[in-house]
Amino acid sequence: MKELLSEYPIIPVVVIEQIEDAVPLAKSLVAGGLSVIEVTLRTPAAIAGIEDIIENVPGAVVGSGTVCSESQLQMSIELGCKFAVSPGATDSLLKKARDSGFNYLPGVSSASEVMRGLEYGYDTFKFFPAEAVGGTTLLKSLHGPFGDVKFCATGGIGLDNVMSYLSLANVLSVGGSWITPSKLIKEKRWSEIERLASQASSLTQ
Ligand code: 3PG
Repeated sequence: MKELLSEYPIIPVVVIEQIEDAVPLAKSLVAGGLSVIEVTLRTPAAIAGIEDIIENVPGAVVGSGTVCSESQLQMSIELGCKFAVSPGATDSLLKKARDSGFNYLPGVSSASEVMRGLEYGYDTFKFFPAEAVGGTTLLKSLHGPFGDVKFCATGGIGLDNVMSYLSLANVLSVGGSWITPSKLIKEKRWSEIERLASQASSLTQ
């Protein structure tokens, strides 16, 4: 997971409501320079959307998000996702993902949660919900006791604060929905999403 996050410092977190939106949405992101996509398993269209993107958008690196159960993790593996992300973590998910060897990013928002993940062998986590739990201040504080731990920060991140996260020593990447606002998806404004993706990707070049 560490290598993947280092390679892709900005990860669009997408919610697919209509299956037919999946491919044009992913194509806009890839065209804008963001080839990694986290498709949240929050909607009935998510699974078919993931399949469509994997099949039809060469160059897209697709992962699943909002993975809250072992069965969703298993499904992500079977669908051909390159990684899976959870907002938090459970013992069963930490164990299953570790035993399967799949790229898995468990969520944490406290020192105790980092310690539990470390016990299972993880050293890279989603830090969620970033802004709500203390943002960059909390991340800086976690860097002291957990010097080797790295994070992908998500939750409340946008253009205005993204660089304050990416400049931290323990942050490899950030994720967020600001690149794919639901209104733009609903109105199928793909060129505007491509523009938001270009704007985001240019920050890290
Ligand atoms: C999520 O899983 O919802 C992501 O962290 C996105 O958060 P955001 O919508 O605040 O960017």
